[in-house]
Amino acid sequence: MKAIILISGNGSNLQSIIDNAERIDLQISCVITNNKNAFGLKRAQSAKIQTYIVDPKLFNSKDAFDSELIRIINQHEVELIILAGYMRILTPLFISHYYGKILNIHPSLLPKFPGLNTHQNAIDASEKIHGVTVHFVTEKIDAGPIIFQQAVNIENSDTVETLSARVLKVEHAIYPNVIHWYTKRRLKLINDKTTLFD
Ligand code: GRF
Repeated sequence: MKAIILISGNGSNLQSIIDNAERIDLQISCVITNNKNAFGLKRAQSAKIQTYIVDPKLFNSKDAFDSELIRIINQHEVELIILAGYMRILTPLFISHYYGKILNIHPSLLPKFPGLNTHQNAIDASEKIHGVTVHFVTEKIDAGPIIFQQAVNIENSDTVETLSARVLKVEHAIYPNVIHWYTKRRLKLINDKTTLFD
């Protein structure tokens, strides 16, 4: 199945998807970023994947920016859009255009700790368990229908650095597998609910 991946930063999830692409029947048509300095661009280029930089400064509205994303994505005729550390909020215009085709990974056990700084917030709240969520993207930010979650224990000695490193390892392990459910057409969003077929 053909997909595009949206990134904004380091791209370690992108790397794990690239490394697993063959196993999970995924063809990455291109990588798009809103950040010209994203290290993930280098990862994509090393894997000979086409990249696009869409600079938000060149657009006078969020809809204009997302319309440019749609224009690029439609050239590639993909069936799936994978957010992998994409740090911009998508517009309703974009999300409704690709209803049921957008996946995101978030570093917390949603609905706990949506938004940024999830690891710091979990430590500050004296949580014992933290984790990762993969979900469909709908208009409610970090509140789309959950597909899969995996817990990560928080140790007393944990800092943001140690905790985020353990969480990222889990992200890299689970995201390709969830994507595989989608490429096998086992996973669908129906009436805003996640459905996993046998
Ligand atoms: C990950 O923690 C992901 O869950 C979140 O942003 C981070 C991106 O990391 N949405 P990377 O760019 O994939 O290394």
